[in-house]
Amino acid sequence: MELNVSTPTPQDPAHDLIDRSNRLGADPKNTNYAGGNTSAKGTETDPVTGEPVELLWVKGSGGDLGTLTEAGLAVLRLDRMRSLVEVYPGVEREDEMVAAFDYCLHGKGGAAPSIDTAMHGLVDAAHVDHLHPDSGIAIATAADGQELTATIFGDRVVWVPWRRPGFQLGLDIAEIKQKFPQAVGCILGGHGITAWGETSAQCEANSLWIIDTAAAYVAEHSRSEPFGPPLEGYAALPPAERRAKAAALAGTIRGLASQDRPVVGHFTDSEEVLDFLASTEHPRLAALGTSCPDHFLRTKVKPLVLDLPASASVEECTARLRELAVAYREDYQAYYDRHAVADSPAIRGADPLVVLVPGVGMFSFGKDKQTARVAGEFYVNAINVMRGAEGLSTYAPIDEAEKFRIEYWALEEAKLARMPKPKPLATRIALVTGAAGGIGGAVARRLAAEGACVVVADLSLEKAQAAAAEIGSTDVAVGVAADVSDEAAVQAMVDATVLAFGGLDLVVNNAGLSLSKSLLETTEADWDLQHAVMAKGSFLVSRAAARVLIDQGMGGDVVYISSKNSVFAGPNNIAYSAAKADQAHQVRLLAAELGEHGVKVNGVNPDGVVQGSGIFASGWGANRAAVYGVEEKDLGKFYAQRTILKREVLPENIANAVFVLCGPDLSHTTGLHVPVDAGVAAAFLR
Ligand SMILES: NC(=O)c1ccc[n+]([C@@H]2O[C@H](COP(=O)([O-])OP(=O)(O)OC[C@H]3O[C@@H](n4cnc5c(N)ncnc54)[C@H](O)[C@@H]3O)[C@@H](O)[C@H]2O)c1
Ligand SMILES: [Zn+2]
Repeated sequence: MELNVSTPTPQDPAHDLIDRSNRLGADPKNTNYAGGNTSAKGTETDPVTGEPVELLWVKGSGGDLGTLTEAGLAVLRLDRMRSLVEVYPGVEREDEMVAAFDYCLHGKGGAAPSIDTAMHGLVDAAHVDHLHPDSGIAIATAADGQELTATIFGDRVVWVPWRRPGFQLGLDIAEIKQKFPQAVGCILGGHGITAWGETSAQCEANSLWIIDTAAAYVAEHSRSEPFGPPLEGYAALPPAERRAKAAALAGTIRGLASQDRPVVGHFTDSEEVLDFLASTEHPRLAALGTSCPDHFLRTKVKPLVLDLPASASVEECTARLRELAVAYREDYQAYYDRHAVADSPAIRGADPLVVLVPGVGMFSFGKDKQTARVAGEFYVNAINVMRGAEGLSTYAPIDEAEKFRIEYWALEEAKLARMPKPKPLATRIALVTGAAGGIGGAVARRLAAEGACVVVADLSLEKAQAAAAEIGSTDVAVGVAADVSDEAAVQAMVDATVLAFGGLDLVVNNAGLSLSKSLLETTEADWDLQHAVMAKGSFLVSRAAARVLIDQGMGGDVVYISSKNSVFAGPNNIAYSAAKADQAHQVRLLAAELGEHGVKVNGVNPDGVVQGSGIFASGWGANRAAVYGVEEKDLGKFYAQRTILKREVLPENIANAVFVLCGPDLSHTTGLHVPVDAGVAAAFLR
């Protein structure tokens, strides 16, 4: 016998499985993001015995069907997996079966097997899909879901009453498949659907048939206005008005959602959300909460709903939101206390993850932007589910005790404990002006690398967006256009920041430009431009940002990129250096003023940053090089020779200082200027 450790071929069941999963996951009507799982069974040659061995490939824990790859599959020996039935100790101890899956792995086993592995392995079909389609969950959460299932699907789809995912649910579904040979799948009460087939194509067709048949039935039989008639005064505000109101409320709402731990936010004013909030039944339905386990793990059992009409002022809204947040936290604590048992994990915080504002939209929150965005997507899924269920029947999600058993499941807690430690600036939202290149670009990159969400602002939208795209997806960095010398543009920039990430924590006043002229050559326009961009610009940015920082009540950082020239006196620099000195004093003034809000204000004094600097590239460098009689390309090295340390200063050196000033270590430092100039004695601070 010859050793044969095979690698996958296009004929492999695993290959078909990945294609099918990617197709199913690509269409949001089929399942929520990262929701559901798929599997295939097949035979391969066991490299140890040379004999055929039956294997189960199943999507492992975590990951999304739409982007599933081979690495996301767990591979188990089917005979061993099925032998677990013999040692199964009963539903009370079903969680122990997850650890037992590790003893069934084939080879290295691939991804970690998920809780749903039992359902896939035990059902006697070569291919199985388990999905969370809005249309299917609408039937699954209808009060008369069992009768509806029979009416819609006849004997082809079987109703399975709610049961928490696990080994027992796998046994139940396996039994159903045996008992009802004509069935192609089932509706899992309160949860989703499972379908099967003897070929991958048949399984996929069965899944899609269930999803589309349910959707068509809802479309045809739903009563009009499933959320009830319009609620007077709750209709959506016009787009510009609702976004302005959302921006004005964002700081307060994020602060209220961050009482236990800081979170990043996502805002959406999609039609589904606005329609839901504009209807009479939304308070009752929102209070019932979400049902599919995937949904409420990300959204919490229920959202916080502002009970004021769209016309309510920002002041009225913030006052009421503060009251509602207190009530929400008490209510959540009471829910925890009602259901927690001796070995339940500790409460994970009582703040809402979804906040609904009639006429305006929805804020959702999470440990990072992607998590916050997905929480919002899941609430939209839940709205679709409620619309379907209410259209046909009455929405009846799983009961609260079951939600608690899922939310505080020991297996869920273990998953959270395995998460990597967050980066130092995780959850912090940064705004860097003049960040399309040069020092600002390096600062934006560094803050993002340390875990912050970053808004890259600059004069050119195109350049700002290009710089942001280089940092990462829009979950990490977004580019906005703003002239910092224009009050309205600055407000729009701060609004765009809070609408992109829910709030603001860290502002870097970096935008600038430099004209090197003697006193007599300096025109009034030169003076005004230098002061408009740097002195007035950073004042406007700090003021607009401070409003958000104060509303949030979460502290914050303001950093000024000032200059060695704010203290150093030399010729040909009157307008630039005076504006830099103005910025430097803003640091001290604002450090004194904003300290009571926990906001630190510090500055960095760079010098001689030639590489990457637009200031040097646009004439200033050539001019300086000519003055010193060196080639322009050697200017950085020339400056280095003038320093005490004889080192060239790079944009990254300035970015390092910014990170240190707002990172975890300098938590007790405000009003400080850090020189990053490789040592210039004439600019020493004292
Ligand atoms: N390069 C150095 O040696 C040095 C030394 C000391 C201080 N600084 C300061 O560092 C900051 C960044 O300079 P850099 O060297 O990276 O230059 P840079 O020209 O590469 O970057 C400045 C950025 O600010 C932007 N900007 C200009 N006017 C703006 C406005 N009105 N609104 C918004 N954005 C505007 C520009 O488009 C540019 O992207 C400036 O404040 C500068 O004064 C630089
Ligand atoms: Zn599920």
